[in-house]
Amino acid sequence: TQNIYILGIESSCDDTAAAVLHNGKILSNVVATQEVHQKYGGVVPELASRAHQQNIVPVIHEALSRAGVTKEDLSAVAFTRGPGLMGSLLVGTSFAKSLSLGLGIPLLDVNHMQAHILAHFIDEEEFQKPQFPFLALTISGGHTQIVKVSDYFEMEVIGETLDDAVGEAFDKSAKILGLPYPGGPLVDKKAQMGNPKAFPFPKPKVDGLNFSFSGLKTSILYFIQKQLKEDPQFIEKNLEDICASIQHTIIGILMDKLKKAVKQTGIKEIAIAGGVSANSGIRKTLHEAQAKYGWKTYIPKFEYTTDNAAMIAIAGHYKFISEDFAHMGITAKARIKM
Ligand code: KG4
Ligand code: ZN
Repeated sequence: TQNIYILGIESSCDDTAAAVLHNGKILSNVVATQEVHQKYGGVVPELASRAHQQNIVPVIHEALSRAGVTKEDLSAVAFTRGPGLMGSLLVGTSFAKSLSLGLGIPLLDVNHMQAHILAHFIDEEEFQKPQFPFLALTISGGHTQIVKVSDYFEMEVIGETLDDAVGEAFDKSAKILGLPYPGGPLVDKKAQMGNPKAFPFPKPKVDGLNFSFSGLKTSILYFIQKQLKEDPQFIEKNLEDICASIQHTIIGILMDKLKKAVKQTGIKEIAIAGGVSANSGIRKTLHEAQAKYGWKTYIPKFEYTTDNAAMIAIAGHYKFISEDFAHMGITAKARIKM
């Protein structure tokens, strides 16, 4: 049997990550999260690319050392080509090319959004893999899509957001409440102790399988402003209930469209992917959907939800097997289709 060692490199946004996979099994998965953006309330692209430059060598060294392999053991190097921030992508792309050239091993370009979905195929005993065809709900800071996945690299977007991504909806709502960036995980934490029906927020009316989240943000803003006029302590007093209500509304919007997608395609294998799939409410709702609707749902292991390089490495693994190598002239792409 062949020994395939893939190094994955991820640098599309504000996390510098590297991972080593052996025959699809995870050996190491290292993420350096950039703290510099917190005080700006969002990712500052210029600072992100600089931090990637600083972090990339130590992160890759760490990934190799934790995996117990040397760079000479590697079969190929996989990197995120896009979508993402151009300056950030350039760091990983250039590094991967140099490494591939220096070691004389193949280069594999990976689509970040496909990789979020393919994270479900990382080989781990207790985790079952989805069967093709399945529907993937990809929910992150930059994307919200329903994808029909027919094969590893045969993916069709059948619904997507017309404005903000779900992660943005979480982060922007959190900002209105005075919570630091990224607010998603904090809203989740507070929501666990609140009443989801305390404050009903309206759901948008959008055709087909598409989403819209900008209206929700506006209605939350108006609601909070109105309440603060009557009681300046409104947020402090009701933070848990507000967070629970926001999260409940977001989950409702996602579930309505998922149900519609299942009806439309007849596919009941559902996987969630992307940073927002770390959300405890979404994980719970998806899990309950198995008994409630007869779906088979796949929820990624926590460490493969937010940006990581294990997902880049597994996507690279499947490209390596089909000898779908990248050329040295390949360039990073900020916008890239599924
Ligand atoms: O996939 P990801 O790490 O990066 C992008 O490719 O965008 O997703 C980051 C997004 C952020 O908006 C963050 O607030 C959100 O995922 N997020 C969460 C949770 N954990 C991360 N949103 C809600 N609940 C969470 N537990
Ligand atoms: Zn991502």
